Amino acid sequence: MSVAVAGLVALGGVACSTAPPEAEVEVTFERPLAIPPLADSRVEADGTRVFRLTADEGATEFLDGTETATWGFNGSYLGPTLRAERGERVAVEVTNGLDEGTTVHWHGMHLPAAMDGGPHQMIEPGDTWRPHWTIDQPAATLWYHPHPHGETEEHVYRGLAGMFLLDDGTAAAAGLPHDYGVDDIPVIVQDKRFAEDGRLTLDDSGNEIGTLGGTVMANGTLGAVHEVITERIRLRLLNGSTARTYSFGFDDGRSFQLVGTDGGLLPTPVETDHVRLSPGERAEIIVAMEEGTEVMLRSTPPDLGAVVAPAAFGGDDAFDVLLLRAADDLTASPQVAATLTDPPPPDESDPSDVTRSFVLEGRSINGKTMDMDRIDEVVTVDTAEVWEVRSRNPFPHNFHVHDVQFRVLSIDGEASPPELAGRKDTVYLEPQRTYRLLLTFEDYTDPRYPYMFHCHLLLHEDEGMMGQFVVLEPGQEPEQSPSGSSGHDHGD
Ligand code: C2O
Ligand code: CU
Ligand code: CU
Repeated sequence: MSVAVAGLVALGGVACSTAPPEAEVEVTFERPLAIPPLADSRVEADGTRVFRLTADEGATEFLDGTETATWGFNGSYLGPTLRAERGERVAVEVTNGLDEGTTVHWHGMHLPAAMDGGPHQMIEPGDTWRPHWTIDQPAATLWYHPHPHGETEEHVYRGLAGMFLLDDGTAAAAGLPHDYGVDDIPVIVQDKRFAEDGRLTLDDSGNEIGTLGGTVMANGTLGAVHEVITERIRLRLLNGSTARTYSFGFDDGRSFQLVGTDGGLLPTPVETDHVRLSPGERAEIIVAMEEGTEVMLRSTPPDLGAVVAPAAFGGDDAFDVLLLRAADDLTASPQVAATLTDPPPPDESDPSDVTRSFVLEGRSINGKTMDMDRIDEVVTVDTAEVWEVRSRNPFPHNFHVHDVQFRVLSIDGEASPPELAGRKDTVYLEPQRTYRLLLTFEDYTDPRYPYMFHCHLLLHEDEGMMGQFVVLEPGQEPEQSPSGSSGHDHGD
């Protein structure tokens, strides 16, 4: 059980590919799972909690004895975990130590568009950007990553990503383990494509959805083991991959409780034995352990919906991800509450003032590819909207919206399943199905800076599968963003 040979994806031979061949990496589960450190912060006189992040180049030993060139925040790979309370004012001093421009986006965060860290907030090499906002949303597992126009796939793949956890005092009442790094564990899952010399490589030439690496790591640890000392453990799973969709479960088929999704806790725990996560999505799960036993977190072949040739998109792949090893004596854990959060999700009868439709096809949304100088949608603040989203392609896409957490009202007219009953910012789109999403855009009007909506398969995003919306007061008009289209130079 402790040795897994990575499943390799057969990619079509494409003549123009210059990427070196993928190495077959044999993984033994014996390295302690790296836990991203909690980020230091200072509190200024006005109460603002200030974090510091520096993006820089480094080298990481993923494979014994081999240094791999990587990028990271405050370290060589990934970044520290930022953590803040609802109601807190926060600021982040983000310094770009790279040789090229980047941005840092707060994925899942409700905040002003000028602080969002999308493609309009470029940080040039050597510069520091200091967004600030007030945390105003429920406890959740959010994350941060670069979002430079046309370069997001590469920046994330090299290692720029981290978690941003929000607290609101509800975890204890809900009976959720909440001792970070002990029984409350971040698990950032990413697939990588190693060359024989240990380099990380992307090869997008042979696959419609981007690079599917044959090697999967958790928090940058290959073959990770976590020693469990409590009866129950909470895993905060983040699919931090560029293209791959996973279906997480355990090698003995045990069930677990799904308690949270992208934007916070579910109304009630959902007992299940697998959870599908497409790139950018999160799931919080509670796993019961027995003394002196081991269990492997693994990804089994995901149900990708009606895709043609699912094997080409990872639909046949299985990976061992993280070995949980329970101590001989486990400390008691609280019982997970039957009701985790209020209010219950809205239903289809919720009022909506506006319905918009979004069709994803090829690299376009509604027939358009991303233009930094074009506002695609103008939203009025405090308006409930229904967005009907549909993929017309027989291969995977998903859909992510900045600034808000939405509800999935229905899929092809059927009530959405219990695992989609909570707050979401990213949803997998099974081909040829219509997802009705309910969104309310509160606060933060800005005529100049837009938010993004896009496919979170990062190759698709980079190739233009993204649009922009502004949130305005009634009667307000959009204006040209002062950043214009800076950074809009990829592939021209
Ligand atoms: Cu996680 Cu617009 O991205
Ligand atoms: Cu986002
Ligand atoms: Cu896509």
